[in-house]
Amino acid sequence: MISRSTIQKVNDTADLLDVVGSFIKLKKRGTNYIGNCPFHNEKTPSFTVSAAKGIYKCFGCGKAGNVITFVQEHEKLSYPEAIVWLAKRYHIEVEETHQSNVEKEQRLEEESLRIVNQFATTYFQQNLQGDEGVAIGLSYFKERGFRKETIEKFQLGYCVENREDLPNVAIAKGYQKELLLKAGLIYERNQHLSAVYAGRVTFPIHNQSGRVIGFGARILKSNEKSPKYINTPENEIYSKSKTLYGLYFAKNALSKQNECLLVEGYTDVISLHQTGIENVVASSGTSLTEEQLKLIKRFTSNLTILYDGDAAGIKAALRGLDMAIEQGMNVHVVLLPDNHDPDSYVQQVGVENFNQFIANNKKDIIVFKLEVSLKEAQNDTVKKTILINEIAETLSKINRLEDFSKQQDYIRRCAQLLQIEEEGLISLVNKKIREKVVKREQISEQDAKELEQQAQTETIHSQPLATDLLKKDYLQEKGLVKILLEYGDKPYDEALSIADYIRLKVGDADFANEIWQKTYQLYYHLLDSSLQYPDIKTFTYHDDELIRSAAIEALYFPYELSDNWELKHQIKTPSREMMFMQDIDNTVVYFLLRKIKSTYIELMDELKTTHDNLDEEMILQTSLLELKRNEIALLEHFKTVLTR
Ligand code: CTP
Ligand code: MN
Repeated sequence: MISRSTIQKVNDTADLLDVVGSFIKLKKRGTNYIGNCPFHNEKTPSFTVSAAKGIYKCFGCGKAGNVITFVQEHEKLSYPEAIVWLAKRYHIEVEETHQSNVEKEQRLEEESLRIVNQFATTYFQQNLQGDEGVAIGLSYFKERGFRKETIEKFQLGYCVENREDLPNVAIAKGYQKELLLKAGLIYERNQHLSAVYAGRVTFPIHNQSGRVIGFGARILKSNEKSPKYINTPENEIYSKSKTLYGLYFAKNALSKQNECLLVEGYTDVISLHQTGIENVVASSGTSLTEEQLKLIKRFTSNLTILYDGDAAGIKAALRGLDMAIEQGMNVHVVLLPDNHDPDSYVQQVGVENFNQFIANNKKDIIVFKLEVSLKEAQNDTVKKTILINEIAETLSKINRLEDFSKQQDYIRRCAQLLQIEEEGLISLVNKKIREKVVKREQISEQDAKELEQQAQTETIHSQPLATDLLKKDYLQEKGLVKILLEYGDKPYDEALSIADYIRLKVGDADFANEIWQKTYQLYYHLLDSSLQYPDIKTFTYHDDELIRSAAIEALYFPYELSDNWELKHQIKTPSREMMFMQDIDNTVVYFLLRKIKSTYIELMDELKTTHDNLDEEMILQTSLLELKRNEIALLEHFKTVLTR
């Protein structure tokens, strides 16, 4: 762990303006600086930096935060990684807390492994240039269509057939036997050391910063009994499940293309790169793990899986589906023509046809799964029931806050394919969500504490300001406006949109805060005058500063907190996602209650002045009674409102 004092030093020293300025051009505008947002494409600058406050906010895409979150976002780093990044930039020494001797030794061991792998990489590359290497290894690569630059870029190599050579060279250079064994480069039998990869071509596996952490070594003679590939064993620096082959080379392209192609093999990655398709990684023969998904998610949420069109390929593509959905990934699958892998296919048809094929055959994976399973189930009702349950389970994992309409679309499409009632599927999905929420509510206290700490350090921008909390009804009004801006165009039920519903219930209620009243009124004004649901941008780019800042504030409030938690911890905070509809109801009911209360007070005041008019007093009394009844009914229904 990085010490508190290092974090403090980084916080004190790191200059947001300086860091942002090194990535984008900033212009002074009043007390702030403004530039083109690095997080989304724009022509007119809407990214503002407050040097004094040390925070930034993009009025276009809504990204906001401090110098650490900026580095996290921009460089796709975790919190500690961002601290280290900044520390490096400002020459601050990174202190680790409680680094025991054991831990120090571990770090040392890890570094030694990386060094010995570097040695091996160079050794294999040199082997490839030797007579044997050229005749066997290089000719193989050539045959596979790999060009010289490609071979160099991926640091491909060859291990000579003489098994004693590698251990001899390595030991002579001072590399310890134990280290070579641990790195999986040699084995020992009868006190005799031999190279593991002898007679194989070598594919170094790089970590995210480009250092070699292991190898895949492919056999060249096809009729041998030994396995096609030998891979580095799990050790301190190499873990198969946490590694994606090619990630280091794909990094930039993943963000730029905002899509990740997932293939199976080393050679698929290399071949695609060679043709210019660089947003590609391989899971190296295993099905995708959660760790690998999270790695991808740092760069893009769009995952396209390319697999062989056989049954095994289909199964492999579907494994990990729910996991990917849960991570909020949009997953597509492309099955390649029979007997082809991406490598052979791109080499056969060329890059243009390859891209065209992907574009034409890309299938949404949820729909794909359903189609495959439906074919399998045929008319078997038992199988079909299981299938419906499975699909509901999958659909329940879509975060409906981020992807409200996405979930609805899926439910509609799946219900159609399954030939069942949409309502039925909706309630089944809801049931699955509730079940999960119940489970999740049993988060341990420790976890809860950790979450809170994380939230404090990482999401300053999403916390309502203390002053806001003091203003009367401020948060509730903000909440209502947020729902309106973000979800107004979504259906509330079959007849009404959420905006319709809110207008029906809230009407022209008088807000306590002008800022929310104005935004609220503008929304309906725009809706009525154009008969279209206004775009959020109409507000965030509005000429009136009041409207603009209101919209930005509303969009930050208050649910980013849970979204962030979710990204960081894969734990979904129950309140938000489970009860989207209830939240709307609750927010609306709050207004009704408030309105009743103020009307009540007004009537009471009037009553005090109507001593002599009995008729009027009667009317007032009846109204009061009616209000009281409404209030009680509302309270009955929405007890949660009071406890919020
Ligand atoms: N793999 C493995 N061990 C094996 C076979 C495969 O580790 N015995 C892993 C490798 O990571 C390999 C991936 O599974 O890259 C896909 O296997 P395959 O398609 O057979 O290998 P390719 O890399 O495509 O090799 P080639 O095209 O040279 O046959
Ligand atoms: Mn292949």
